[in-house]
Amino acid sequence: MSSPSASPTATPATWQVCGSCGSEIPETDSHPRCPRCRGLLEVRHQTPAQGGSALRATFDARWGVRRGVLASGVWRYREAVLPTAGEHILSYPEGNTPLLASAPVARWAGAPELLLKHEGLNPTGSFKDRGMTVGVTQARRVKARAVACASTGNTAAALAAYAALAALPALVLVPKGQVALGKLAQALAYGARTLLVRGNFDDCLELADQASERLGVYLLNSVNPFRLEGQKTIVLELLQQLGWEPPDWIVVPAGNLGNTAAFGKALVEARAWGLIDRVPKLAAVQAEGAAPFAQSFRDGFVQLRRVEPRTVATAIKIGNPASYERAVRAIRDTSGVVTTVSDDEILEAKAVVDGAGIGCEPASAAAIAGARRLMREGTTRPRDRVIAVLTGHVLKDPETVARYHQEIEPRPAGANRPIEIEARLAEVERVMAG
Ligand code: F0G
Repeated sequence: MSSPSASPTATPATWQVCGSCGSEIPETDSHPRCPRCRGLLEVRHQTPAQGGSALRATFDARWGVRRGVLASGVWRYREAVLPTAGEHILSYPEGNTPLLASAPVARWAGAPELLLKHEGLNPTGSFKDRGMTVGVTQARRVKARAVACASTGNTAAALAAYAALAALPALVLVPKGQVALGKLAQALAYGARTLLVRGNFDDCLELADQASERLGVYLLNSVNPFRLEGQKTIVLELLQQLGWEPPDWIVVPAGNLGNTAAFGKALVEARAWGLIDRVPKLAAVQAEGAAPFAQSFRDGFVQLRRVEPRTVATAIKIGNPASYERAVRAIRDTSGVVTTVSDDEILEAKAVVDGAGIGCEPASAAAIAGARRLMREGTTRPRDRVIAVLTGHVLKDPETVARYHQEIEPRPAGANRPIEIEARLAEVERVMAG
């Protein structure tokens, strides 16, 4: 392919670049990694012809469209996602998630200006749908025969659903016994061939990587750069919801680091394209027992040290994050931070979010616990406008909810114990009187 920099007249609208060796490859090349050095690829778009205010106006004019692909909260931003996708687009539609204010959550976090971007309200209950609509669209463009991923559960659910919509066979590899029930149920229900791997997520990803190459199946983990183009729209949509007035901070739970990377790319592009005039800081939050990125941040990002992950938040139970380098760039580009929270803090934050009537899964609550920690440390200030991303729905992990509320000793502060009674009115009266 001709190099975009060498011959500007032949510059395509979109192409791929290897983050390691700088090779440029066409956008419809189906290798999930750089074919020369196996580095991670990045999607690049030409700067849209419209300037910032015209592009904002285009996006704003599509707000509220009810039919067709522009009804999607991903494809509304198609110039920034995949301008050339054309008739291949496969959309549920997804996105259009609310930005919520909650007094109890803001009070608990000590962050008066906190807002919650609830990505759990996507079609399969997590932000993964935003990446998967683009990933499966790209799978159709490259004429993939089948699609595959490794997953802690949500990617598997999203892949299974979108592959079914596209009538493509799907293969998912998940760590046996470490996937929340709602997610496993979705993968099975949507018809993906589901492999329960005796190992952890990192083992699953290595296996999926090798298997996809050997079997010629299109890999749709977040190493696939097209997934990240879709996930960028979480940021674009929240900026649009704020009238393109950037917040001070965006707080996101971090596991395999795809989302952190996507957020950084979205913000840098939004600034370069004139959609915003200042870049908010990113805060990535990891569970204490699965925090290789936070560890590396404390050491000045000298290197990534793989860990044996342990946390109640199974979605982010990852010890060797694939998008590490991209995420380092995201934190640097936004002058951001990486922090950790304990499992107890995650569960307490979750009880507050759930009890406020909003609900989220444990990994999502890490963002709220992280927002509290940043405020307590003085990294953020009470007047800062903070957006925390709730990445998954409360029903994803019913077992953790049931365990928390029915725990006998020690009884968690926010526990709401169910009470067993005989089928008699007097029993109801007795309980209500108490
Ligand atoms: N929150 C939820 C609910 C997730 O499912 C994930 C990742 C994350 C946060 C972290 O995002 O990996 O981009 O840093 N889930 C992946 C999966 C790993 O397989 O579903 P990340």
